[in-house]
Amino acid sequence: MSSQNQQHYQKISNIYNDLWFFSEDYIKFMTTNIIEYLRLKPTDTLVDLGCGTGIYAKSILKQIQLENSIICVDPSEEMLEQIPDSPQYKILALSAIDFLSQAEVYNKVIMKEVIHHIDNKELLFSLLFQQLTSDGIFLLILLPPTIDYPLFDEALRLYEKIQPHYSNLAHLLEKVGFKVSVNFREYLLAIPKSRYFHMVENRYMSLLSFFDDKQLAEGLAEMSQKYAQQSLLEFPDRFVFITASKL
Ligand SMILES: C[S@@+](CC[C@H](N)C(=O)[O-])C[C@H]1O[C@@H](n2cnc3c(N)ncnc32)[C@H](O)[C@@H]1O
Repeated sequence: MSSQNQQHYQKISNIYNDLWFFSEDYIKFMTTNIIEYLRLKPTDTLVDLGCGTGIYAKSILKQIQLENSIICVDPSEEMLEQIPDSPQYKILALSAIDFLSQAEVYNKVIMKEVIHHIDNKELLFSLLFQQLTSDGIFLLILLPPTIDYPLFDEALRLYEKIQPHYSNLAHLLEKVGFKVSVNFREYLLAIPKSRYFHMVENRYMSLLSFFDDKQLAEGLAEMSQKYAQQSLLEFPDRFVFITASKL
């Protein structure tokens, strides 16, 4: 992970759950989709690659009783510290590539909103193909090429420039041997304006760490003007679910 990203997650680890836990219903929506696309069964061994603070690992266990611990992998010790110390989780402070390079047996892997941090995506995907058992499924979740978040213009433009395109990722997964299907899901968010501004001030997305304090203040001023009449910001959160199966 780049040192900029490392510092970003180190800084926000304590408040990450507050910033990203939009609602119980939102987490449930995401988790239900994860369980469905992964075809998760009680006997599966699941890896949450780039698990962060474990929001989804925890939520998965509320919906399905897994016989094996969820393997939670993230290079940020500070993010991992937020995961409860329990035999339900096996916590590993490693980058995705380092984890996949070591011997471990698992058949389901989820990676949500992490792929933009991985430089060598082909290496990641080919290691996944090698390591997953023969019935294995890898679920890659990411944002689409454009987003409708109520951010300032410069942030949205930068996002469009740097976000990996799901179709390139789907092709790369096919190239290393996976059978791939691409699906889209959408959740309508309604966030009080003051809360959303607080999230932006705290650079809730790593994208915002590319802006210095002055640029961020200017961006927030632009947002204040644009949304002067609203107290609630409503916008769709759209996700791409790429399911890569070995069978
Ligand atoms: C936006 S957060 C997503 C966390 C979690 N998947 C979620 O949806 O709540 C991105 C996470 O990717 C992790 N990350 C960054 N570089 C990584 C790498 N090379 N391998 C694995 N995880 C990485 C960060 O530490 C951070 O926890």
